[in-house]
Amino acid sequence: MKPAAPDLAAMNAATAWTWLAGEFTAAVGSAKHGLHLLTVATVGTDGQPEARTVVLRHVDPLRREVRFHSDIRSPKLRALRTSPRVALHWYDPALRVQVRVSAVAVIHYGDTVAAVTWNASQPMSRAIYTTAAAPGDALDAFPAGPSAPEADDDTGLGRFAVVSCRFDAVELLSLHAAGHQRVRLHLDRDPVTWTVLAP
Ligand SMILES: Cc1cc2nc3c(=O)[nH]c(=O)nc-3n(C[C@H](O)[C@H](O)[C@H](O)COP(=O)(O)O)c2cc1C
Repeated sequence: MKPAAPDLAAMNAATAWTWLAGEFTAAVGSAKHGLHLLTVATVGTDGQPEARTVVLRHVDPLRREVRFHSDIRSPKLRALRTSPRVALHWYDPALRVQVRVSAVAVIHYGDTVAAVTWNASQPMSRAIYTTAAAPGDALDAFPAGPSAPEADDDTGLGRFAVVSCRFDAVELLSLHAAGHQRVRLHLDRDPVTWTVLAP
């Protein structure tokens, strides 16, 4: 049975954040979870906003951090070096919840975080980092899918980056049957507080 949208009126700020952090954690571990994919918006070097889908790879509720992985050569990583501010967006049609986050991105490349994450990732996940063409390069034809590299093949490590997005607030919109409920969670306060907003 489809789970109902969460009733924020039955929660407080702390329990709402605990609920959302639990869903994020479940989403990291399951490609079927509606929050497994998110949209990341960056501002390009020319000021143009760009948005794209990425996979939620890690969440740390205490540090208020989510991470995704990417190719260091990609345009979005170029943009982040100039302008690290990002907007993150999720909509889970099963939970009927929208999540919006303004965050600051830190790129882990060639450091311990990148190495530890690389070592823990599956060969199939590493395959995309073995291609000579950089994301966005113009090609003469569609490329063949890369095959999974050997477990000890670290060719892709030189292109692998972990992007950590840190934030202080989260906006949650629940399309609850009794009426839409929208809150801004202030996570940098102890205890966590919220502002109820007009949906
Ligand atoms: C379902 C899905 C998941 C994706 N996951 C990632 C990801 O985790 N990291 C990533 O860099 N690109 C991912 N992509 C590709 C990006 O959306 C994008 O096309 C690519 O990274 C180039 O983006 P850029 O030109 O803005 O740098 C994914 C695309 C789809 C459709």
